[in-house]
Amino acid sequence: MSFRAAPRRARSPGSAGFAWWFGRQDLNKTLFIKTWGCQMNVYDSARMADVLAPLGYKPVDRPDDADMVILNTCHIREKASEKVFSELGRLRALKKRKAVGGGQMLLAVAGCVGQAEGAEILARAPYVDLVFGPQTFHRLPELVAEVREGRRNGDPGGVLDTEFPPESKFDFLPEEQGGQGLSAFLAVQEGCDKFCTFCVVPYTRGAEFSRPAASILAEARRLIQGGAREITLLGQNVNAWHGEAPEGGGHRWGLGSLVRAVAELEGLARLRYTTSHPRDLDEALMSAHGEVPQLMPFVHLPVQSGSDTILAAMNRRHTADDYRRQVDRLRQFRADLALSSDFIIGFPGESDADFAATLALIDDIGFAQAYSFKYSPRPGTPAAELDQQVPEAVKDERLAILQDRLNSQQRAFNQAAVGSVMPVLFDRSGRRPGQVMGRSPFMQAVHVAGDVSRLGALADVRITAAHPNSLSGRLVDSGPVEAASADALQAPEVIA
Ligand code: 5AD
Ligand code: SF4
Repeated sequence: MSFRAAPRRARSPGSAGFAWWFGRQDLNKTLFIKTWGCQMNVYDSARMADVLAPLGYKPVDRPDDADMVILNTCHIREKASEKVFSELGRLRALKKRKAVGGGQMLLAVAGCVGQAEGAEILARAPYVDLVFGPQTFHRLPELVAEVREGRRNGDPGGVLDTEFPPESKFDFLPEEQGGQGLSAFLAVQEGCDKFCTFCVVPYTRGAEFSRPAASILAEARRLIQGGAREITLLGQNVNAWHGEAPEGGGHRWGLGSLVRAVAELEGLARLRYTTSHPRDLDEALMSAHGEVPQLMPFVHLPVQSGSDTILAAMNRRHTADDYRRQVDRLRQFRADLALSSDFIIGFPGESDADFAATLALIDDIGFAQAYSFKYSPRPGTPAAELDQQVPEAVKDERLAILQDRLNSQQRAFNQAAVGSVMPVLFDRSGRRPGQVMGRSPFMQAVHVAGDVSRLGALADVRITAAHPNSLSGRLVDSGPVEAASADALQAPEVIA
């Protein structure tokens, strides 16, 4: 498999196909997007819907009701990409049924599987009309037009766009954004130059790119105007962000400066960022946790392994003790800071002693939550070529032990919250009538008895019970208590 972009006709936004399509738009079309993978994919899917909205596409909840179906895919592990082909099989049947009834359904594959396996998808599933990668979805109007034109010209082949174009998609995405709600994602950085030996991201998302601060701040203002109370700054390696400063002139900011500037925007209650790399966690960002009350005391900081040998083989370029020191430093700025992480089990060459080092790191840090995965060899990545692949049975055994350890840490973390009062940002109705749900500062789901007028507001909640993945509690006051919550968000003094 090659990750090279497939050659295709050069085009720029606003070319003839684009105009042709706009000329004959039908304003009653429906769109269904299924999203797999990371939050960046969730963000991208929302932006695809924004790009298609001027063409008349309105989101629907089921593929059966859709004139266009987009599968926004993830290639990070084998299981993630396998799902795409089984979903395509189901959609093929749906497309056939629609065709029998005289209807049409445009079927597209987007995201990292599209990027990595575009040509293969079109060969294996010729009923797919369009494949595009994460860097070209701003061209959707043209691509859709091209599919239609192809049909018009009797060309049955699907359209493929997996270029890494010279223009940044961020400069061409519509300012109008829908569907982001109270808790919004904002992509500030994309791609990665770290080349961890197990990871496809540098190949599927491309080189590290940081958006300029001015355009991020403008998007943040629009999100807040649209009702967002919480913003999560997104990037594959978000703390590598080093975008142009608002004053321009070649000046650059780091994420610490960006966090401070976004937090100052009127109306924003909470700010988060994800996903971080331990190597790029600088003092300016860490100190923001002690100085910016809107910045939540919860950091997703993947470590992958606690063994220095494995970390070196993964090309992570830090040791387990470096990680311990980073966490200590973060907690000097914010004593109650909670951590989440990612772990890969069974990386090639992982011995019992390496695995034991990972368990030791987990015991030392104490994670509020974590994700763990069995190592999955990804074609084209260096680790896939390594000898000493770990047998599946060993991976299974180690994963079960690791998850048991992480689950008990999560249960203990949730249990420790019982009896405390926490500010909760309510963002959705609960499962039962008369219940609302929100998030604690530490990302725990919290449900309370309350009505939907709470949605969008912060309120103090006394936690009454802990469950494995959530908390329940009681509203402290009968009305919204914004002022009290803001006080509660004040970070402790810097201890450093
Ligand atoms: N195998 C298993 N897990 C992987 N991840 C990335 N690549 C692989 C792989 N080849 C995990 C890492 C990363 C998370 C998003 O996915 O833990 O942090
Ligand atoms: Fe992949 Fe993250 Fe490593 Fe970049 S830093 S190569 S995104 S695991």
